[in-house]
Amino acid sequence: MTKLGVLCSGRGTDLQSIIDAIQRGELDAEISIVLTDKPNVMALERAAKAGIKNICVDRKQFASRADFEAELLKNLYGVDLVVLAGFMRILSPEFVRRYEGRLMNIHPSLLPAFPGAHAHRDVLAYGVKISGCTVHFVDEGTDSGPIILQAAVEVRDDDTEETLSARVLEQEHIIYPKAIKLFVEGKLKIEGRHVKILEALQ
Ligand code: GAR
Repeated sequence: MTKLGVLCSGRGTDLQSIIDAIQRGELDAEISIVLTDKPNVMALERAAKAGIKNICVDRKQFASRADFEAELLKNLYGVDLVVLAGFMRILSPEFVRRYEGRLMNIHPSLLPAFPGAHAHRDVLAYGVKISGCTVHFVDEGTDSGPIILQAAVEVRDDDTEETLSARVLEQEHIIYPKAIKLFVEGKLKIEGRHVKILEALQ
């Protein structure tokens, strides 16, 4: 059984979509641990409710990023795939290299457009008509790794960050479990910047 380690910073609805897909029998994987970089966040409660081991590795308690990441790595021991689900920190190149090809992120825009921490705000300020979400493998850049799946969402004239984010999240909750399922089933092949989905080739 593929073991997942999920890293979150807050509310944890992306985490919940993965928990739900496993519980519905759609995703044949197990979440070994949920880690957060902040205390008292909903993601910890969601994990606890689902009977999943959960630990806060509070960034504020560590003198350096290296010490913080060493603690994350300790807790991720034995995990096959690290899943960033609303984890709002940049991981070091060392961490990323350690999990090369086994570290996924979801970002709330159609990358490479609007990377960074304020995607919806940037989308609305720019005036694009279509946004969406992207699941990608993580490389050493910010939101720049090889793309696995994307989903598009219409941007409406009266959208606020909240309404756009809600519409994008609906799609996130569909494509994140799907991308993890493809990984678990060995159907993702990374070739440079490209991720081939093997079932699509059959
Ligand atoms: C999601 O929209 C996710 O794409 C985004 O944070 C939100 C987390 O929601 N991630 C990033 O912006 C990463 N740069 P959640 O806590 O409800 O899962």
